[in-house]
Amino acid sequence: MRQVCGGEPAGLADCSWGTLSPFPKMVVYDEGAGGGGLSQGDCLQDPVKLRDGLRGLIEDGRLPSAPEKLARFAEIMQALLTRRDFVRPQHIAPQQIAPFFGNYPGPFGINADVHLPLIFPGFTAPSAEDLARLKARDTEEPSKSFTYGTMPWGETAVLREIVRAMKPRTVLEIGTNIGLLTREIVDVCPEDAVVFTLDLPPSMRERAFQPLDDINLSYVRQEQTDQDVGREVKPPYTRAAQVIQLLGDSQVFNFNALRNMVDLVIVDGLHSYPAPLVDTRHALELVNLGGVVAWDDYGKLFRLAGVTLTLLEMAVKERRQIYWVNHNQSLSTGLAFHVTP
Ligand SMILES: C[S@@+](CC[C@H](N)C(=O)[O-])C[C@H]1O[C@@H](n2cnc3c(N)ncnc32)[C@H](O)[C@@H]1O
Repeated sequence: MRQVCGGEPAGLADCSWGTLSPFPKMVVYDEGAGGGGLSQGDCLQDPVKLRDGLRGLIEDGRLPSAPEKLARFAEIMQALLTRRDFVRPQHIAPQQIAPFFGNYPGPFGINADVHLPLIFPGFTAPSAEDLARLKARDTEEPSKSFTYGTMPWGETAVLREIVRAMKPRTVLEIGTNIGLLTREIVDVCPEDAVVFTLDLPPSMRERAFQPLDDINLSYVRQEQTDQDVGREVKPPYTRAAQVIQLLGDSQVFNFNALRNMVDLVIVDGLHSYPAPLVDTRHALELVNLGGVVAWDDYGKLFRLAGVTLTLLEMAVKERRQIYWVNHNQSLSTGLAFHVTP
């Protein structure tokens, strides 16, 4: 196996993880002399080659660290980003949401029906069928028993419609779990989008930078073995080719190759403070201009206060405008997001 350990700083690297990659090692991006390499032109025109090229570079489920590989990676990512515009979200002023917001730093509670179409041109409310399907998934046996730990149905339904409206070219999810949210997102992404998803596999938990406490361990009861991570987006899932699974610890992961490259980052990993803050700082570096960082579990206290604390810190200390979808039909959600200026 080629030793490519870009995902973690030296010392924590363990290349044996790579064998878990669900993808065959197809080095379509041939680096050998005269070996059918991928030109920028090819990249722009052929989304499949582009994806396979990325996958070839992310051999062993990791981002590349070698300088020459990084350069190729950046070239392909740039091609992906310049090839097609995504639908740029718009800012709305706090006073547009409610006149009394005044100098309030946020997060600003918004109504999905009224405000999301202003922020995401083309946004439409989740369909009754989608809401019913996702609700049944979360509340009815047998699926109920394996959706625990997944973004709940109301949040998932709204996030799907945001993604459908944004048409992202690249997405990064921090916290894959078994891949249920990943699949919901890929299903509504353009067919040439690439979705990266990162998780800490069970056999790496003992070495986690911030250990999983009982609350966080309760979310991962489906992930008994390393192969369970992301299992819902591995073949035979029909759009598995669009998913690039990354394995490692988000707290110390080397995300450099994705800087300014991601249209949507979903922060849904370790929920105990300060881990959500660390993930958020990474997310803000990775998100592309006009891109979006989204979080689940804002507004929750006690067990889930880590995200709430993080977003208050972002809003109050850093004056970042955070929107919180606290009203969707009759539902209050924990979905919050930031649109980069
Ligand atoms: C709430 S679950 C994610 C749910 C998933 N996004 C969904 O909606 O289906 C949190 C995930 O974060 C992962 N996690 C915990 N600590 C992590 C870390 N340090 N790095 C990466 N992932 C981590 C857990 O393994 C777990 O799968």
